[in-house]
Amino acid sequence: MRWSGTAKALHWTTAALILGLLALGWVMTRADMNAALRFDLYQLHKSFGFVALGLVWLRLIHLTFRCAPEPPKSRLERRLVRAGRAGLWTLMILAPLSGWATASASPLEIPTLFFGLFKVPDVVRPGEAAFALASSAHFWLTALFAALICLHAAAALKHHFIDGDDVLTGMLPRRRSGPSGLKKVRQDNVLKRLDEVRSKRF
Ligand code: HEM
Repeated sequence: MRWSGTAKALHWTTAALILGLLALGWVMTRADMNAALRFDLYQLHKSFGFVALGLVWLRLIHLTFRCAPEPPKSRLERRLVRAGRAGLWTLMILAPLSGWATASASPLEIPTLFFGLFKVPDVVRPGEAAFALASSAHFWLTALFAALICLHAAAALKHHFIDGDDVLTGMLPRRRSGPSGLKKVRQDNVLKRLDEVRSKRF
């Protein structure tokens, strides 16, 4: 099972971004810090959150033009793969959208500045009730996302260590392989011939 180089790059970039956003979201809402640092971390979280949303659309467009590797043979596994993919795609879209709604609904009316470059428009009117709803949705969606990512990683490790197939390695960068079979035989023959010549030395 091999994915294209672009699919692998998009997969790992999105994975790194989402793991970073989960960690940053957790830290910025809980850790003890001064207001200025908290403000900067919120802005960073919101900006990278938009990058993640952009990447999801890129991945969706890429998916429609490129074929994914063939699905597994067993019916149960096929269903699990389909359900897992549907869950991950849904959360990749809903998690950032709920974050955007949370930032917009904040009664503090703090603008969202995309990496300090421009102000992102709000999608919801600010208000306490709207903020409570959006912020709860963002919390539960991202918690579900973290749980599904753990299951996704566990499934990939099971394929590698228990089933011994190439599902995980198919998503890793291609390693430079050693000499091919024929090349290796030729190299062995050259080395043998060298040994023969050396043995005739005086
Ligand atoms: C895949 C993308 C995202 C992930 C995985 C993510 C993850 C998280 C997490 C784990 C939290 C902590 C939740 C809590 O404990 O209450 C959080 C909080 C927050 N996120 Fe996101 N986030 C994402 C995208 C966004 C986006 C795009 C925005 C805004 C444009 C955003 C705005 C916020 C805000 C304002 C909070 C604080 C909520 C509060 O104070 O209750 N997030 N995020």
